[in-house]
Amino acid sequence: MAENILIAIAWPYANAEIHVGNITGSHLPGDIVARFHRLKGNHVLMVSGTDSHGTPVTIAAEKEGVTVESVYKKYHTGFLELFQKAGITFDCFTSTHTSNHFKVSQSIFLALKQNNYLFTKVEPQWYSPQANKFLPDRFVEGTCYICGYKEARSDQCDGCGNVLEAARLIEPRSKVDGSTPELRDTEHFYIDLSALEPKVKQFLQDRSGYMRDTVLGESLGKIESEGLKPRPITRDLEWGIPVPVEGWDGKCLYVWFEAVIGYLSAAIEWSLLTGGDWKEWWVSPNARQYYFIGKDNIFFHASLWPAELMGVGEQFAEVFSGETGVKLNLPYDVPANQFMNMEGQKISGSRRWGVWGADFLERYDPDALRFYLTANMPENKDSDWDWAEFVSLNNGQLLATWGNLANRMLSFAYKNWDGQVPEIEVSNLREADRNLLETIKSGFKLVEAEYSAVHLRNALSEAMKLATEVNRYIDANAPWKQIKEDRDAAALTVYTALHAIDTLKILFAPILPYTSEKLHNIFGYDTSLFGQQFVESVADGLGEHSVLRYEAPQGQQLLWQESQLKPGQVLNAPEPLIKKLDEKVAEEERQKLGK
Ligand code: MF3
Ligand code: ZN
Repeated sequence: MAENILIAIAWPYANAEIHVGNITGSHLPGDIVARFHRLKGNHVLMVSGTDSHGTPVTIAAEKEGVTVESVYKKYHTGFLELFQKAGITFDCFTSTHTSNHFKVSQSIFLALKQNNYLFTKVEPQWYSPQANKFLPDRFVEGTCYICGYKEARSDQCDGCGNVLEAARLIEPRSKVDGSTPELRDTEHFYIDLSALEPKVKQFLQDRSGYMRDTVLGESLGKIESEGLKPRPITRDLEWGIPVPVEGWDGKCLYVWFEAVIGYLSAAIEWSLLTGGDWKEWWVSPNARQYYFIGKDNIFFHASLWPAELMGVGEQFAEVFSGETGVKLNLPYDVPANQFMNMEGQKISGSRRWGVWGADFLERYDPDALRFYLTANMPENKDSDWDWAEFVSLNNGQLLATWGNLANRMLSFAYKNWDGQVPEIEVSNLREADRNLLETIKSGFKLVEAEYSAVHLRNALSEAMKLATEVNRYIDANAPWKQIKEDRDAAALTVYTALHAIDTLKILFAPILPYTSEKLHNIFGYDTSLFGQQFVESVADGLGEHSVLRYEAPQGQQLLWQESQLKPGQVLNAPEPLIKKLDEKVAEEERQKLGK
């Protein structure tokens, strides 16, 4: 039976362009797993959107001297372009600044309140006498009271990765004008995470068989060492979602509290746009949810978000749609990635030390990017982008082992067998032919298992090993010699190789969708592996926003299977699949770093 797979990808802040570290951290792995499950015939819903509220975006607007709204729209538009060029196939990539998201977030807030998981408290927060306002979260920087890092933000420290209690920051300074803020009392809503702690702990333990050690270790470690503490979920900010309680004007929901709710609200928005049913992923027991995030987001996805969902219990449907007795699903897995560095140093927007997706794709192909980022995906430890390695893996593996293999065999068949797959008798296949096809068959199962477990580096390297086997087989049989002496033998070789390549096409497809789609066409199939992306404009009470969507191919059959190639099948004219990169590229690109 087909499963419902929710692919939830971290919502990028609307304050910076997306770089390769972000892509390999969350967007690409999410897209690979989404494409894998679509090929398997599962029902995939892949959602995310622009995280448009909170201090990151407000500060960017103040710096640029423009409205927050215009900053959020500018970055949002850029994200939509990038995802289309990189083939990150969201069913719904929206924004947190929509009427629908406001409504869903406020419903979650009210459901938690009804269930007594919220309380109010007056506590001192940083306040700027100069600017006459409170300075929440990133508006204040100072020294981390845990690790001593000097550039810590009042809500989270990039030095040690911990989520911080703002008032404990040492030597605080205002991000706006450098002045020293003072502590002043202000009233806020708090989520009672200590009351939810046993449920969160159980949630994590239930997943200990497969959740990454990095995610479980950090999450359970925090609970063991200090326990979950109540956290304020409202802020003194103008830009954001109003607190849905009388007398709370001028206060907004905390950006993290509401952004994670986006995974639910985007599914609901998708339903409104398509007539589909979000409950297939959010209520049905036949659903599995995967959250693709970077390691700095682990607390919010593996502790806070499950706590919100469990705290809501059956209240959400009641508050939101009047239905009763409906509970929301919890995350199945949170395969958080570590970070990717750039030529040995941390990627930094302000120092222009990095590679940005949109800029990269002006010069290189999306599959070249996807290949290198998958080969270097920081699944268990930090990884590094190295330009020389990018060039050598592109030419030495992607092109030499895979692209050339497919192109060479298809061209050879096309030229010598009149544009067709050689018409052989399958019963005539020799032992070596059958051995190769057996190897591919068992490899197919192995690669499938790696994709299922979200071990994407392994999926790629196992598929590459199979491509190497096919290359070995061809070298051993040398069909270009065989054809001169024994045309029937050459036909068996070419048929066998094409059969293997056709299967490999599917194994590579989630990672290299453009290459596999081309190959699928060259093999002469009249179906498509993947559908189309497009942008839709949606008007609501807050104005207009653009949504990136995905339309699956019509009349889809099961595509995740071994080659169905028929002897005599008519081919389309082959073309080169992968571009060779000049060795100079590495030096040229390195020169641009930091400028
Ligand atoms: N905007 C956050 C970041 O870039 C990620 C938010 S993920 C969310 O770190 F789900 F919470 F939105
Ligand atoms: Zn720290």
